[in-house]
Amino acid sequence: MTEQIQLINGFSKKSREEKLALVTQLITDTDKALEIYKSFHHPDPKTQEMIEEFSENTISNFHLPYSVVPNFLLNNKIYTVPMVIEESSVVAAAAQSAKFWFSRGGFKAEVIDTEKIGQVHFLWHDDKNILLQKFPELKERLIKEAFEITENMVRRGGGILDIELKDLTDREPGLMQLYCTFETVDSMGANFINSCLERFAETFRHWHAAQKEFTPEGMEVIMCILSNLTPNCRVKVQVETTLDTLDDIIPGMPGAEFARRFRLGVHVAEADPYRATTHNKGIFNGVDAVVLATGNDFRAVEACGHAYAARSGKYAPLTRVETDEYYFRFMLELPVALGVVGGLTNLHPLVKLSHDLLGHPSARELMGIAAATGLANNFGAVKSLVTTGIQKGHMKMHLLNILKQLGVPEDRKNEVVHYFKDKIVSVYAVRQLMERWEVKPATGIK
Ligand code: MEV
Repeated sequence: MTEQIQLINGFSKKSREEKLALVTQLITDTDKALEIYKSFHHPDPKTQEMIEEFSENTISNFHLPYSVVPNFLLNNKIYTVPMVIEESSVVAAAAQSAKFWFSRGGFKAEVIDTEKIGQVHFLWHDDKNILLQKFPELKERLIKEAFEITENMVRRGGGILDIELKDLTDREPGLMQLYCTFETVDSMGANFINSCLERFAETFRHWHAAQKEFTPEGMEVIMCILSNLTPNCRVKVQVETTLDTLDDIIPGMPGAEFARRFRLGVHVAEADPYRATTHNKGIFNGVDAVVLATGNDFRAVEACGHAYAARSGKYAPLTRVETDEYYFRFMLELPVALGVVGGLTNLHPLVKLSHDLLGHPSARELMGIAAATGLANNFGAVKSLVTTGIQKGHMKMHLLNILKQLGVPEDRKNEVVHYFKDKIVSVYAVRQLMERWEVKPATGIK
């Protein structure tokens, strides 16, 4: 017999308790599931309510570790950088790199530009030449009629930078766009940009309808939306030093040899998109963790970074290395649109603390901090990959997680860690050792 498919109506309108009751019925051990979901609710009902309002259909909270990296020297200022991420080796690598570069001048960041982009996509069937001719008049009107939305942003030093008409008819019949650029100062600006774009579309429709040269069916707005590809909202960050200061970065390895191997490591990523993807993932380990901790949109940041990495038509690494017989310079140029006001930044208590911890940076400063953390992580990853290999450090972290997962009691952990110093780590191997040594899991852990 085929199972009856039932539509759940009005789920979002139900109370949290009703949602929990419905959802936990789908889980094998309903009572246990209910208990676990509830155990992650915040004890303060007001805070719980606030967290629930960040999303829809919320039934519980999903915790991630909030870590910090101290000693982060950037543009001669010392930061303690908050990182929200579930991969412990990422924080360890960032902390190690930060400490290493602290005594070598630290990271230097420079914001290249902060321009954001939005587009009104439309189909055009009327005379294109007339549109081109009349565009200056239309543009003036678009800007004027959006003033109600832009007024406050203009007061803060931002607003609409420009509106261009772009012809994409060679890609899709009739396809054109209003290509609009914005300065959103300290906000990420998504709502501001999208509101401006929708107002532009409204003005455009009215303007088009009032021109006697055009026909009622001559223009059709398809959509209005910002672009997450912001190549001109970009920061450059670098570290540099003389080769002698890299001596013994790996015990016994001369700095020049390290620099040679490091350069090769980056060149592999330049030669091969498979490696470039992992290389860039390592950069986003750091960037995303800061983006999350500061309440920004990591999906937007990732989408932009990867599109930028493929701007030449070939997916490439986002970092570059320059070395000669004396010098080592490692650089990252990253388009990254971040905000320090609006959205979660004013709402989430931990996000607010992150901004406080960083000394309330401007959006430009935060771009530098996020990119520098990405560079720190990439430096740490490539350094390990071309020297000791990555597994040594990773497996140590992995082992600690396994010990937790299998409930190895605190007083036996050191022995187990010592045992695995020169052995392959796996859940199976730890379980076997526990059996052999008759280590019983700590109570409360299965
Ligand atoms: C793991 O999260 C990140 C690395 O794979 C990055 C890299 O390979 O460069 C270690």
